[in-house]
Amino acid sequence: DNLGVVAVGFSGGQAKQGVDAAPSALIESGLLRQLREELNYKLHGDDTVHSYADLAPADDAPYRNMKNPKHVSAVTQRLCEQVYAQAREGRMVLTLGGDHSIAIGTVAGTAKAIRERLGREIAVIWVDAHADINTPESSDSGNIHGMPVSFVTGLTKEDNPDYFGWLKEDHMLSLKKLVYIGLRDVDPGEKKILRGERHQGVQHGIGRVMEMALAHIGSDTPIHLSFDVDALDPMWAPSTGTPVRGGLTLREGDYICECVHQTGSLVAVDLVEVNPSLAPEIDTGAHETVRAGCSLVRCALGESLL
Ligand code: ARG
Ligand code: MN
Ligand code: MN
Ligand code: MN
Repeated sequence: DNLGVVAVGFSGGQAKQGVDAAPSALIESGLLRQLREELNYKLHGDDTVHSYADLAPADDAPYRNMKNPKHVSAVTQRLCEQVYAQAREGRMVLTLGGDHSIAIGTVAGTAKAIRERLGREIAVIWVDAHADINTPESSDSGNIHGMPVSFVTGLTKEDNPDYFGWLKEDHMLSLKKLVYIGLRDVDPGEKKILRGERHQGVQHGIGRVMEMALAHIGSDTPIHLSFDVDALDPMWAPSTGTPVRGGLTLREGDYICECVHQTGSLVAVDLVEVNPSLAPEIDTGAHETVRAGCSLVRCALGESLL
């Protein structure tokens, strides 16, 4: 099978350095080699990690309360074009982040390509401790990694192309086509936005959660899986910028990815928020988190126990 790979060493959607080093760490630990040799993918795109340093504007003052707004807008716009180009060829696309702001670009690129190629709206499965649906105005932090869902569902509107105004209708999906798994740290402003929408906790057990999630999406709908490693419990993934206790086990995370793979409808996968420079014990913690990230990606791309 063909797989488009985009490696995004970008951290501007939040304040902590180090999340930009994740793609290299994942690749150095053998992820792409495993996809090639063990899962038999033919990889497209380049093995180089994009830092998009050339897209950093000289002056990037806050705008509508957003931090680094021009830089994040420019990076996600470029990323959208890259993901679109791969998906338009009919390839599954794997994006290695980077903080979760990059999903503005990946989801936009997938949504547009699938619309053109198949005439379909995508569904997004957002696996995360956080809802990431703040609007610039509802966000307390101003960090754009807490806002991507609001941009790709059209909840946040902006005309200026330097500040995400490049996002058009064909980059978006309706909130009805979004399913959350793993949420446990939702801001008050986000709760207001989500009131009345459905989401899946893990209180039902992960098997039932996946049944309900996939039933809601409906069979035959192209799926974009956006996996924030902080959905896992910090026991499995301590090296991440906004860890929240009480998360998924690695086996539950892998199972989610396996189930999504088995639908046969997966068109894109993001793995984000691995930050190898953060952990209580940096060597073991970072190593474990990178290993967990690799495992999730392999499961999403077809590795299974049997
Ligand atoms: N809700 C908080 C905020 O908006 C935290 C978001 C964390 N997002 C993430 N992708 N890790 O700032
Ligand atoms: Mn998160
Ligand atoms: Mn997130
Ligand atoms: Mn398979």
